[in-house]
Formats: sequence, C-alpha cells, structure tokens
Amino acid sequence: MSKFIPVNEPDLSGNEKKYLQECIDTGWISSEGPFIEKLESGLCQQTRRKHAFAVCNGSAALELAVKAIGIKPGDEVVMPTFTIISCALAVIRAGASPVYVDADPHSWNMKVEDIEPLITERTKAIMAVHIYGITVDMDPLLKIAKKYDLKVIEDAAEVIGQTYKGQPCGSFGDISTLSFYPNKHITTGEGGMVLVNDDELAERCKSRRNLCFGKTDRFVHQELGWNFRMSNLQAAVGVAQLERLPETLKKKRKIGKLYHHHLEGCESFTLPLKQTAYCENIYWVFGIISKDDSRDAKWWMNKMKERGIGTRPFFYPMHLQPALQSNSPKENNYPESEKITKYGFYLPSGVTLCEDRISTVSQKLIG
Ligand SMILES: Cc1ncc(COP(=O)(O)O)c(C=O)c1O
Repeated sequence: MSKFIPVNEPDLSGNEKKYLQECIDTGWISSEGPFIEKLESGLCQQTRRKHAFAVCNGSAALELAVKAIGIKPGDEVVMPTFTIISCALAVIRAGASPVYVDADPHSWNMKVEDIEPLITERTKAIMAVHIYGITVDMDPLLKIAKKYDLKVIEDAAEVIGQTYKGQPCGSFGDISTLSFYPNKHITTGEGGMVLVNDDELAERCKSRRNLCFGKTDRFVHQELGWNFRMSNLQAAVGVAQLERLPETLKKKRKIGKLYHHHLEGCESFTLPLKQTAYCENIYWVFGIISKDDSRDAKWWMNKMKERGIGTRPFFYPMHLQPALQSNSPKENNYPESEKITKYGFYLPSGVTLCEDRISTVSQKLIG
C-alpha cells in the first residue's frame, strides 16, 4: 500500500538546524535573543510595518491586538462568521461582542457589502480575516471603517506573503496579526506576530506581551499583561523560514495550479478562485466544495481517508459554535457560511507536496 499522504508537512530543509544550533551554542534560548529581533525586523520589512512583536501563537496575537487597540466590555466588533474560533475568542475575552458577517460564496471571505448595516453605536472595530489564500476586499472595508471611525484588525495568518492590489497583507488597518503554526507559509512550530505602525500602540503591544513589567520598578505592574513571549529557539526556525518565503510562495502557487489542472472540468466540485480583481490566489490550502447534495464534506473526507489521503474540513461558523451560543445572535442568517462548511474541505496542500502526490490525490478524489 502506498504511503499515507498527510494534509500538511513542514519544510525545515534550510538554515533551521544551523540557527537552532547557534541558539544552543550561545545559550540564547529564551525570548531575549538575536533571532527574535531578526524575525521581527524581517517581517516589518516584508509587510512594510514599522513595528513587529513576536508572540507565542496566532491566537495570542489576536487577543493582544484586540485589547491593545482598546476594545472594552460592551463594545461590538464586526467580523466573519466563517473563520477560526481564535478571532471570536479574542473579542469575547476582551468582554466585547462579535457581530458576524456571512461569507462570500466564491472567495469564502466576509461579504464586505454586508458590513455597513451591522454598524451600531457600540461598534468599535472591524476584524478582517483573509481566508485560505484569497484576500478580503480591503478598500471598501477600510472606507467603511473611516466613515464610522472604527479600528481595523487584520488577521493575515493564512496569507503571509500575499498582497492586496500589490500591497502586502499584514500592512492593513491599525493592527495586523500572523500565525506561524506549521501549516503557515512561515512556521516557528508555534508562534505568531503583531504588526503596527503607531508608536503608542506599539508600546502597548510590547508591554502587554511581557506581563506589563514596570518601567522603573520592574515588579510593579500598572496594567494586566500576559506572558505571550516567543523563544529565540522558535524565532531561529522562523528566520530560516523567512529566508525561503519567496520560494515557498512559488511552490504554493504551483501546487494550486497543478490541482486546477487535474480537477478542472470535474463536475463534482467547485474549485477555489484562481484570482480576483485584487489578488492572485496563494493557495494557503486548496479548498474544494462538493456540488452534490447527497455527498457532503464528511462523505468525501471519509472516502479520501480510506484511500490514504489526509484532508481537513472547512471552518465551522462562529454563530453555530456550541461554546459561543451565549454570544451568538438569536436570528441566524448566514446561509453561505453554512453551505461551505457543510460541503467544503481541503486537500493536502503543504509546501513539500510534490507533483506526483498532487496527481495521486487528484486521481483518488475523482477516480
Ligand atoms: C485565520 C487564522 N487566525 C488565527 C489562527 C490561530 O493561529 P494559532 O494556531 O497560531 O493560534 C489561525 C490558525 O490556523 C488562522 O487560520
């Protein structure tokens, strides 16, 4: 039997080992170490942001971002329902309420045209989350934010290296966040980043990431922070990954292109968009949607598992999350998110996936 093809495998073939060895040889293993600064300045350059703060994961980055921009109990944050729970948790843990927007059936991103009617006196921010490799349409979103004087949080976890109208993701709005989980375009094992331009906001992020230690009296704390620090060991891996980002993006686009080549014309699935008016798909994952009502994502994923292929379901919308019922609207009207959740899943999409495997996965799917 041929080997199981997992949904993702990280590529650690560059300077990762060398830089880790350097950490061990020099003793820099905590969050104070040269690779942290290298990773932060590298990502500032990549995203054209002024400040970057490495943190322990992307969920922590969101929590830090939401609090740092001043979201308080009673506030509302408009955000997609079709996303990872980390986005809603960050809002809820700040004591605020998420207000959900349905997904666009084609791009799978939040429908920007649905945002404005949801704005109330309590709305303080919009959270834009780029989904699976296509960006949110940022210009109209930023226009709405400006009109109503709202903050914008950009979750760019899935689109490191992607651009919107030529401008790098991670550079939009007041604050952006990244994740470096192993399926991301840059991994540190576990890790994340907060990116900002404003100096005062940067100070708040820096302080809150590190327990808000006192400036003059170290152990006297004026505010509540977290220990969200990243270690120099993790950053060492990240720096090696960042060196290969252009290559990684090229590979991801090639994977997407090959899947399209094998699956185009297949009646059973809707394939991801190749591009929109403002971006070319970066294929963080290659998501597909079953068109057959009698064969939902679970049916296909079981079939693929039996055939030795790993897959993952699409996100489960926030408004249906059992854990979030007390924070969810009474009336649900998110048909597109519910549909893509029921019928959508993604194929192996990791950067190490070779041409032969893409062909095998495609044959197992439609053969
Ligand atoms: C859009 C998005 N935001 C946030 C996260 C959370 O990142 P982490 O797993 O590093 O906490 C993820 C994780 O996959 C994600 O896809």
